[in-house]
Amino acid sequence: MSRPAPRPASARPSPALVTFAAEVRDGLTHAPQKELPSKYLYDEVGSALFEVITVLPEYGVTRSEERLLTRYATEIVDALPADVSVAELGSGSGRKTRRILEALCRKRPISYSPIEISRTALQLCRRELADIERISIVGYERDYLAGLAEVSRNRASGEQLLVLFLGSTIGNFARLAATRFLRDIRAMLQPGDTLLLGTDLVKPVKTLLAAYDDSIGATAAFNLNLLARVNRELDGNFELAAFEHVARFNPDARSIEMHLRAKTHVEARVGLAGLAVTLEAGETIWTESSHKYHADEIPAIAADAGFTCAQQWVEKEWGFAESLLTAT
Ligand code: AVI
Repeated sequence: MSRPAPRPASARPSPALVTFAAEVRDGLTHAPQKELPSKYLYDEVGSALFEVITVLPEYGVTRSEERLLTRYATEIVDALPADVSVAELGSGSGRKTRRILEALCRKRPISYSPIEISRTALQLCRRELADIERISIVGYERDYLAGLAEVSRNRASGEQLLVLFLGSTIGNFARLAATRFLRDIRAMLQPGDTLLLGTDLVKPVKTLLAAYDDSIGATAAFNLNLLARVNRELDGNFELAAFEHVARFNPDARSIEMHLRAKTHVEARVGLAGLAVTLEAGETIWTESSHKYHADEIPAIAADAGFTCAQQWVEKEWGFAESLLTAT
């Protein structure tokens, strides 16, 4: 009897897809709370929906940070070491970063290394910032820490690094994981290197709930796209209409949680994950947490991770802080 021909290499799922499938399998079999990692919210559709979220009237985070960076770019740049190059973790479209880069380039030519797992985001960012004079942009299509290690290794001698971690993406880490992540960043840096960290601040629960459950349903679409992505990429068959977007405030964690709630009993399978899933009516899949900080807790967190907080700028209209941390 002849053996079946081996599967051609081209038909094999990529390592990234294999990891996605494994993480979906782990998350959807997690008891008692099913979950999916929030990093998978950002495929091409999710990234486009997130860009929409950033301009929603209810979502003040991005506008608040833009106001801060517009107002204080010169002051921030004046607080940096003289010979600095810039790396950014998760540049997105690059819009927020423009103010800092323009202020730096007014002083001297600057090398800027955006680090992104999304190739589309890197292309967008290059297009958005290409008109800045005296900037050289080298994108790194990597995860944050692998990219930062490479940028740090490749720097010229005597050059100090400014790492940008904006947009309150740190808020999407659980609190202990956030400190661990800052420590990991610190491990890639040299004393005197700096980190500009954006954090969304604690504000009334009503404001937060509106920001994460907006009136036109953009955040709901952003959340539901995660299941749509599982269907598209992992041969899933979730019926999207059977789920609704839920945003809730967790007072213990001081975070907004996004969930997808089954409106009825749901049975689905995810082919590439080799998984059959059942959800009872009302059961949820936890898809994201967005932690909110008090401005005055940042220096202690920074110290725990090997930084001192050199300066902090707070925008009060919405409630957002930009903290300049120096590696000790
Ligand atoms: C990217 N991150 C900081 C956003 C946030 O506010 O946590 C993601 C987001 N989720 C829903 N709306 C925006």
